[in-house]
Amino acid sequence: MKSIVILISGRGSNLQALLEARLPCRIAAVISNRADAAGLKIAQQHGIATHIIAHQDYSDRDAFDTALAASIDHYQPDLVVLAGFMRILTAQFVARYRGRLINIHPSLLPAYSGLDTHRRALHDGVKIHGCTVHFVTDDLDHGPIIIQAAVPVLMNDTAATLAARVLHQEHRIYVQAIRWFCNGHLSLSAQGKVLLQRIEQPGCTLIMPGLE
Ligand code: GRF
Repeated sequence: MKSIVILISGRGSNLQALLEARLPCRIAAVISNRADAAGLKIAQQHGIATHIIAHQDYSDRDAFDTALAASIDHYQPDLVVLAGFMRILTAQFVARYRGRLINIHPSLLPAYSGLDTHRRALHDGVKIHGCTVHFVTDDLDHGPIIIQAAVPVLMNDTAATLAARVLHQEHRIYVQAIRWFCNGHLSLSAQGKVLLQRIEQPGCTLIMPGLE
């Protein structure tokens, strides 16, 4: 059975979704760069080992990433899952975990990389928004895309209501991507392309606002 390590910085709702999903893998540990991350308690309630590697304890990004990698490598995971991990990782760190480091981002990438995605989407008046799971490369938020979910932007949405609608889908697609990886159906090719052994590709169209 494959094993995964999950990195968090905060609330931990994606972590919780992964813990409750009965994934076909061992969740070996949860590591946070913040001691006050609420997700640490969620992990502990599920009996998962937790570690804190506090970024402010390290003189620079290299030193922090070296300590983080040492903590991860202790578990020899097949996959490292970023679930709301709010630190930018060095190119060296990213290269070390090439093809086995994934992230979830709250927008339909490549639109709205970076922070504050829901407010920016509302400001631009887009009608369709969503979330993306991707392999991590040193091109921030632009790694090869594994799966996306689109949600409608409704007329009275606030950043909070839109975020909640997107978050619900985050929890679904992250579970799916990790399930594919753990079952050996998902990998990253040497050329940097997502390889997914999946025959079914049901499609449906989301038109916002709807046609009359
Ligand atoms: C999520 O919106 C995720 O897409 C982003 O950070 C947020 C983390 O939320 N990278 P949570 O800690 O999983 O609740």
